[in-house]
Amino acid sequence: PSFETVLVETRGAVGLVTLNRPKAMNALNAQLVRELGDAVAAFDADDAIGAVVIRGGEKAFAAGADIREMAEQSFSDVYLADLGAAWRRLLDCRKPLVAAVSGYALGGGCELAMMCDIIIAAEDARFGQPEITLGIIPGFGGTQRLARAVGKAKAMDLVLTGRMMDAQEAERSGLVARLVPAERLTEEAIAIADRIASLPRVATLSAKEAVNAAFESPLSEGARAERRSFQALFATEDQKEGMAAFLEKRKPQFRNR
Ligand code: HXC
Repeated sequence: PSFETVLVETRGAVGLVTLNRPKAMNALNAQLVRELGDAVAAFDADDAIGAVVIRGGEKAFAAGADIREMAEQSFSDVYLADLGAAWRRLLDCRKPLVAAVSGYALGGGCELAMMCDIIIAAEDARFGQPEITLGIIPGFGGTQRLARAVGKAKAMDLVLTGRMMDAQEAERSGLVARLVPAERLTEEAIAIADRIASLPRVATLSAKEAVNAAFESPLSEGARAERRSFQALFATEDQKEGMAAFLEKRKPQFRNR
């Protein structure tokens, strides 16, 4: 499929989605959110793809929901539009999503990054939830995912003041997995996704599901789900191959079976 607001490419087993509304700092209008959902769902369904990178531009990953589009909307407009359905398609993606953030990741842009499984940031990245300055609050999970990622103190600080944090603070706070020089951002994000894509896929999707369970269930239930997946992986050929290869001191040949 061809899109207007996102660019889609593949790099080996990695799907690369580039948000592409540079004149508006990649503001997330309804079309972009829909196309992003379609692009990610297509990669999720593609056997040749093992992981997906989502990146923006140099100046902005995404500066949030489109304020021009929202400015005149009523409660009924926003309620009936329910962009949540489009966002859920990202959350439904079973393959790992890597966000490569440089420049601004604000509002819905920060929330988009937090819906991904790993955030890699350029040293010039800036994160924030400035919604309060517009008379609204985050609406795509920002209050929930930020609080889980960085704790209550910093989440309250950011959400109540609308201030931005730089990449160093974001990394220190646990929002960002790795910091890299800006010019190496895409390359590093693709290298991480490529590494993930090279590993046995059934275990990879199970691992993502298990880590996510840590945030969606009490500890005992998450641990039970993890144990069941752990046990179930002994039914895969890749478990036999991975362990045999280790013992025979050779490289494993994974077949995603
Ligand atoms: C629409 C936007 C935009 C946005 C930037 N632009 N952000 N348009 N929606 N969120 C547009 C500007 O209007 C401008 O268009 C062009 O992009 C360049 O932006 P400038 O402001 O001129 O650039 P700069 O001075 O470098 O400042 C960059 C910035 C600033 C700090 C990122 O643009 C900014 O503060 N943007 C808004 C950030 C924000 O409040 N985000 C939260 C949105 S609410 P023109 O046509 O003038 O060139 C949200 C809610 C999510 O995300 C949940 C909803 C359910």
